[in-house]
Amino acid sequence: MSATELIINEKHVKIGIIGAGAIGRAFATQAVRAGYEVVLSNRHGPASLAPLVAQLGGRARAGTVAEAAQAEVVFLALPWEQVAPVAASVSSWEGRLVIDPTNPILLPGFRLAELGGRPSSEVVAGLVPGARVVKAFNTLMPAVLAANPREAGGQRVIFYSGNDSAAKATVAGLLQQMGFAGIDLGLLHEGGKLQQFPGGPLPTLNLLKVA
Ligand SMILES: NC(=O)c1ccc[n+]([C@@H]2O[C@H](COP(=O)([O-])OP(=O)(O)OC[C@H]3O[C@@H](n4cnc5c(N)ncnc54)[C@H](OP(=O)(O)O)[C@@H]3O)[C@@H](O)[C@H]2O)c1
Repeated sequence: MSATELIINEKHVKIGIIGAGAIGRAFATQAVRAGYEVVLSNRHGPASLAPLVAQLGGRARAGTVAEAAQAEVVFLALPWEQVAPVAASVSSWEGRLVIDPTNPILLPGFRLAELGGRPSSEVVAGLVPGARVVKAFNTLMPAVLAANPREAGGQRVIFYSGNDSAAKATVAGLLQQMGFAGIDLGLLHEGGKLQQFPGGPLPTLNLLKVA
């Protein structure tokens, strides 16, 4: 086990969540259940998150986007068109591990964003200079993601991909603590495309890994 994984497993790590909508809440549910300290943020500000924080319980609290972005692990659960402006509003991304569950869809209209032929998480990586990006949690519907990951004698599969192996080891530890079965798909330009929505073959598949 790597040192990074050890930190994750000991739950000393703080997780910031930027975007507390459907996916941010689902991820927060699992992170809080697993015992992590979680700082949630959104557009409307910390006071608007009081009911959600009360519902989550555990070590959840509300904060500003800037506070959430200071956590070691930042879950970036924003609509695609908000990723660039919000990322630019953060003074420094240096040293963060950013988990990217976004899909490059423009709303309203459900149009595919222009990516210049790149995997969407490479675009995200370019917006958070100094951070290591791991794409994960983008393939399941929020209700599935929030449900108990242990089901029917198996563990729900979460795909992840990224270009930094230490960052992926950290995400693997996080997934393990939450009860998911993580599957490493490789680098962003290969695995990222497999799990990308739309276009990849893996989104919407709700798979269980049976030991
Ligand atoms: N929903 C799905 O089925 C699904 C599945 C997989 C992946 N995804 C991806 O996950 C991402 C989030 O989707 P979602 O369904 O969770 O969206 P959502 O329910 O619309 O929630 C978006 C969240 O982002 C916050 N936000 C928007 N602009 C912001 C800003 N400028 N500063 C700070 N916070 C801001 C919103 O804040 P307020 O609450 O204050 O408005 C809200 O909490 C998207 O990229 C989506 O493609 C979605």
